[in-house]
Amino acid sequence: MAVDVILGLQWGDEGKGKIVDYLANNYDIVARFQGGPNAGHTLKFDGKKYILHTVPSGIFREHLINVIGNGVVIDPITLKREIEQLDAAGVNYKGRLLVAKKAHLILPSHRMLDAASESAKGKDKIGSTLKGIGPTYMDKTGRNGLRIGDLFEPNFEERYEALKDKHLKLAAIYPEIDFDMAAEEEKWMASLETIKSLEIVEGEWYLNNALKEGKRILAEGAQGSMLDIDYGTYPFVTSSNTITAGVCIGLGLAPQKINEVIGITKAYCTRVGSGPFPTELHDQTGEQLRVEGAEFGSTTGRPRRCGWIDLPQLKYAIMLNGVTQLVITKIDVLNIFDTLKAAVRLNIDGKSTDQWPFDIDRREVVPEYDTMEGWMTSLETMTSFDEMPEQAKAFIHYLEKQLDVPVSMISTGPDRKSLILRDVSAVV
Ligand code: GDP
Ligand code: IMO
Ligand code: MG
Repeated sequence: MAVDVILGLQWGDEGKGKIVDYLANNYDIVARFQGGPNAGHTLKFDGKKYILHTVPSGIFREHLINVIGNGVVIDPITLKREIEQLDAAGVNYKGRLLVAKKAHLILPSHRMLDAASESAKGKDKIGSTLKGIGPTYMDKTGRNGLRIGDLFEPNFEERYEALKDKHLKLAAIYPEIDFDMAAEEEKWMASLETIKSLEIVEGEWYLNNALKEGKRILAEGAQGSMLDIDYGTYPFVTSSNTITAGVCIGLGLAPQKINEVIGITKAYCTRVGSGPFPTELHDQTGEQLRVEGAEFGSTTGRPRRCGWIDLPQLKYAIMLNGVTQLVITKIDVLNIFDTLKAAVRLNIDGKSTDQWPFDIDRREVVPEYDTMEGWMTSLETMTSFDEMPEQAKAFIHYLEKQLDVPVSMISTGPDRKSLILRDVSAVV
């Protein structure tokens, strides 16, 4: 059996949580492969809303296993809080929530360094979620990190103290910040018991054996392709590989095991934090998208920057990921616009192109738009593509033609049930 992948094609918050939760029923295992509590994946069903940061979005589907893979970085404090949320919701996660031994730990001092480094950058700051992601991945590649498996070693405390001391020395290069290390450390230490009580596995062996037994795996991405450490809008990115290749690294699965790559994009575009965003709107339309789409960060509550969909950006992400099917989310947010736009090319320093340059953050970029008619009606009751207004169908056909990938699902609201499915084999 093979692995299917769900990931974001923009700058995160495309609706991955909702789609993973919906599709999870078709799988035996959902596995997160990268990122950490910088992610905020929202699930809505039965009138309730849950935001997951570290726990995979298959946790509410009772039959299946959820794996926090090797490529993820884990803050025990956040994970404990999420588990308490599951307890409160009456979800039985015992034996269903597995943690890979090679996943790295986020220490309180990683969070302190994240905050100190961002604050020192001033107006050049990345807009990090301040969850300690950058410093933790730095320690991973610098070969200094602590992993989940290390929690069970007799010298764990010694190694923890040594790493913390190193961080405290490093912090001296930054202006001082407000950070209550003693209190954070106490919470962190107390949270370790929760992690230890979960099932800790050799992630790569567990998943490869599961495939041999014919199990179906869904790999859940965090962040989005444009936040990828290598191919995103560097340096305004996160610190992991968010694209399909990250599945192989993060879960220890060979490339031939990957089957469908389901790429998610909003029907428009958002970004939270700093960095280039060619189609960003600073006008009333941008504000309408923010209000109508409730575009405020799931992790930090910050207002998200909003703009029209950017096709050169999506084509780039589709190329990097090998996307085989597209999911368009939040199409209902466009209900209120009589005219819709999509950037087809970018004019960069006076030259029209559909290729993003290396230094896009330092260039003059003007999007070239196609304009389409909106549908100006609610999509709430619609359950099939055929029922959709002609203008909405035309918008989907336009995207398929431009992006050369079939659209298999269209999300029309935050709820699990607000989804229009299409038979991909019949499309394109
Ligand atoms: P993720 O990080 O990719 O899982 O996405 P987030 O959960 O951070 O952000 C997506 C937001 O949009 C959440 O508040 C979802 O409840 C909401 N959402 C998801 N799909 C739809 C949709 O089709 N329509 C609307 N209006 N909201 C949606
Ligand atoms: P999900 O999985 C949106 C952004 C931050 C910042 C940059 C670096 O919910 O889609 P970091 O905390 O990684 O150092 O932040 O990346 N960012 C996200 N934006 N959705 C996310 O996750 C994000 N995770 C990080 O805002 O600009
Ligand atoms: Mg999110």
